[in-house]
Parts: sequence; structure tokens; C-alpha cells
Amino acid sequence: MATDLTVIVLAAGGGTRMRSKQAKVLHEIGGRSMVGHVLAAVQALEPTRVVAVVGHQRDQVGPHIQALMPEATLAVQEEQKGTGHAVRIALAAGGTTTGTVLVAAGDTPLLRGESLRDFAAEHEAAQCAVSVLSGIVDDPFGYGRIVRNDEGDVEAIVEEKDATHDQRSLHEISSGILAFDAEFLLDALPRIGNDNAKGEYYLTDTVGLAREAGLAVGAFPIDDWVQTEGANDRVQLAHLGRELNRRIVEAWMRDGVTVMDPATTWVDSDVTLAPDVVLLPGTQLLGATAVAEDAVIGPDCTLKDCEIGRGARVVRAHGELAVIGAGANVGPFSYLRPGTVLGDGGKIGAFVETKNAQIGAGAKVPHLSYVGDADIGEGTNIGAGTIFANYDGTHKHHTTVGRGAKTGANNTFVAPVTIGDGAVTGGGTVVRRDVPPGQLAVSGGPQRNLDRRPARAAETSIGEATERGGES
Ligand code: UD1
Ligand code: CA
Repeated sequence: MATDLTVIVLAAGGGTRMRSKQAKVLHEIGGRSMVGHVLAAVQALEPTRVVAVVGHQRDQVGPHIQALMPEATLAVQEEQKGTGHAVRIALAAGGTTTGTVLVAAGDTPLLRGESLRDFAAEHEAAQCAVSVLSGIVDDPFGYGRIVRNDEGDVEAIVEEKDATHDQRSLHEISSGILAFDAEFLLDALPRIGNDNAKGEYYLTDTVGLAREAGLAVGAFPIDDWVQTEGANDRVQLAHLGRELNRRIVEAWMRDGVTVMDPATTWVDSDVTLAPDVVLLPGTQLLGATAVAEDAVIGPDCTLKDCEIGRGARVVRAHGELAVIGAGANVGPFSYLRPGTVLGDGGKIGAFVETKNAQIGAGAKVPHLSYVGDADIGEGTNIGAGTIFANYDGTHKHHTTVGRGAKTGANNTFVAPVTIGDGAVTGGGTVVRRDVPPGQLAVSGGPQRNLDRRPARAAETSIGEATERGGES
């Protein structure tokens, strides 16, 4: 690979067919924007410089690219006069004068770094002035056709709208990904005209110019054409999204992850899974979620930016920015909001919501509870139906429950409040004041049973009378 490599990412186009207020290249699949996938592929090449051309909706696209790749130079193309015009602006902005220049589009999310690397290597080995990454497809409609002479040398790339009838029947097409010798490119770009069907400056016209000058031109077909496919509308976006997911899930299976139903399992690009993880149907692992060995996730879980410990079990849960310890149990029907940290061997049970809650090793919140803004110590058991009342209507407050505590069913902890190590609370307790370690807290008056029926009806009821007699 050349020591001097400039990569230009074209992302100035409009994307009207998305019918979206969001710029086309910002639409996401696999947890990343389309241009984010392209930049990840580009990054793998370790190029000398990257220039991204932005235009349409550049107030959205520019900052996004700079956040993902701060070292990239942004070049602004005010008016989209064609790919040749865009590259001219990019070269000026990047200050490129020598080496190899690779041009890619920002809307081909399945593109892999290895494919770009192989293509650039072929281009350099063949010492071409310009090379195109081509593909041989059944339906070439809409693409630039690769025109070869009888010797098989590339003569030109002809756009669909400018092609003759015979040229349209050619099945080798341009992916739009091209490689150039920088000196040739700088010389050729000002000589490109716009006398064509679209009135645009076509980058692909450099091929004809190279041939006229007697320079070598390469067309190197890629086997895996889908890598070069762009998404112009949401139907294509969904198609590429499913294909990307299929590839990601398949790669994890080859790395030792069991996936019971690949069709309903969605795994984002940045997720990491250890061997012997098991994913059951209806599982979505999103963002930077990481799952350790032997954990079993699903069925029906959505986990975004979560960390799941070794051997943990998560069933029908929705989690975001949560940490689940080794051997811990979550679900079914649990909602783990940001800041939930469940210790090793702990339990967040059925119908439980947690938020900003540190739940110690072996501690359990098994049933029907809300735990917000709390610390729960190791080995503590929280009774069924407990509410951590963290909000006084204005401010959020914290609750601390010590280690080895046992709180009764249907408690309310009115924050801020602290329940000490080994403390116990009775059923139905409303805890408004701290409970010292080891003490038992109860609240509310003693139970009173009142007869609420008329006296005569009560007398004629033999069963009731007997029961009451027994009480006296
Ligand atoms: C282009 C190629 C065609 C190829 C096809 C593959 C040219 C002239 N044609 O056609 O040979 O088969 O891609 O998909 O290159 N862009 C800018 N500024 C512009 C114009 C375009 O940044 O002024 C960007 C677009 O945002 C897009 C890319 O360049 O990302 C390609 O442009 P587009 O107009 O879609 O070209 P196609 O007609 O698809
Ligand atoms: Ca296109």
C-alpha cells in the first residue's frame, strides 16, 4: 500500500428519496450511520488523510463526520455539480498532490476495509492512472457501464443516461469507488467537461482521459457486490440493514455464539460477544453492548449499551446503560434504566424497574418493584412490591439499604433515607426515617377489624357467629 494515501468520501448529495428531514448518510443500520460504516472501513486503511465532501444538510452531516473522525478534513461543495467537481474541491481542501487517491461514497454501509485495501493494492500493483472497483451484475440498470475493447482493456465508463443501446447491455458496472494516481487526477480534473445528459462533471470521465494519454486503466471486479450498494430510499435501507445483520450474526456464530433464530436476532456492529453466549429468539443487542461467556439472553430482550456478566441470565428485559453481574438473573419483564448496576449473583425480578441503582452481589429485588437512585448492599432482599420514592416533586433523593437487610413486602422508602446493615422492615412499612443497623422498623397503627354489616344479618349468619364466638 502506498505510504501516501488520500481517501475522499463523497457525502454532498441530497437523498430526496429518503423523504426525510435527516440527511441520507445519517440514516442508521446496525447501530451506525451509513457514513459511519464507510468511515470505519476507511479507518482500517490508516490513510494519510481523509477528506469528506459535504453539501446538502451539511449542518447535520459535517459535525457527525467530525465527531466520528476528528482528523478528517471537511470540504464544502455548495452546489452539487457532479462527482468530478466534488473531488476537485476535496483535493484542494486536503492539499493532496502526490500518492494514491481513493474515492468512495458515503452511503455504502456494507463496505469493508479489507475490500478497499485489496482494491488499492491491485490499483497500485498494476500501476494504473485510474482504477475502478467494478462488479458483474444481472441488472446493471442505473449504473455506469465499464466499456472494454477487444483486448479487454478498459476504454471508458459510460453513465446510464449517456450510454448507447449496446453499452446498456453491458453487465460490468462501476461501483463508484475509484482509485487514482494523484498527479494524473490533478491534471485530469480541470479537463473534464459537463456536456452530458445530466450536465454534471463526471469523475468517471477521467478514464477516457487516461486512455487518450496512453495511461493504464484498471477495472477490478469485487465478488461481494452488496458491499458497494448504496441505500437511496428506506426500502433499500431496510434491505441493507437485514443483510448487514445477517452477516454480523453469522460471524458471531462462527466465533462460537449460539443463535437460536438468526432471523429475529439483531446485533449492532459495535456489540461484542464471548464464546458460548446463547441468544434466544427476539433478542436485540444494540450499541456497545458486551456479553461475557455462557450468558443466556432472551427470548425477547432489548439491551443497549449494556454489560452482561459471565453466565448471567436475562429474560424478556429492556435495558440501557446497565451492568448485569456474573451469574445474575434478570426478568422476565424488567426495565433496567441507565445507571443500573446489578452485582454478581444478584436478581432483578419480574416486573421490576430500576434506575441509577447499585444492587450488591447476591442482593435481590425479585418482584414488582421500582428502585430509583439507590444503593442496596450485598445479600439484601427487597420485599415484593417495594417503591423507592426518590422524587419529592422537585428533587431526586437517594436511598441506601445496607448489607444483609430484609425488607418486607409493599414497603415505601421515602428518600432520602438509610436502612442499616441487617435491618428488617415489616410488611407495608413506609420508611421515612433512617433504620439503624439490625433494628426492625414498622409503621402504621395496629390492625382493627370492624363489623360493617347490620346486627341482624350478622346474628343469622351461623358461620360468622361461630367465628366471632371463637375470637372472644
Ligand atoms: C455514480 C457513478 C456511476 C456508478 C454509481 C454507483 C459518476 C459520474 N457516476 O453514479 O458510474 O455506477 O455512482 O453507485 O461518478 N456526490 C457529491 N457531489 C456531487 C455529486 C455527487 O458529493 O456533486 C456524491 C453523492 O452524494 C453520492 C456519490 O457522490 O454519494 C455518487 O453520486 P450520484 O449522483 O449518486 O452518482 P450516480 O448517478 O449514482
Ligand atoms: Ca448513487
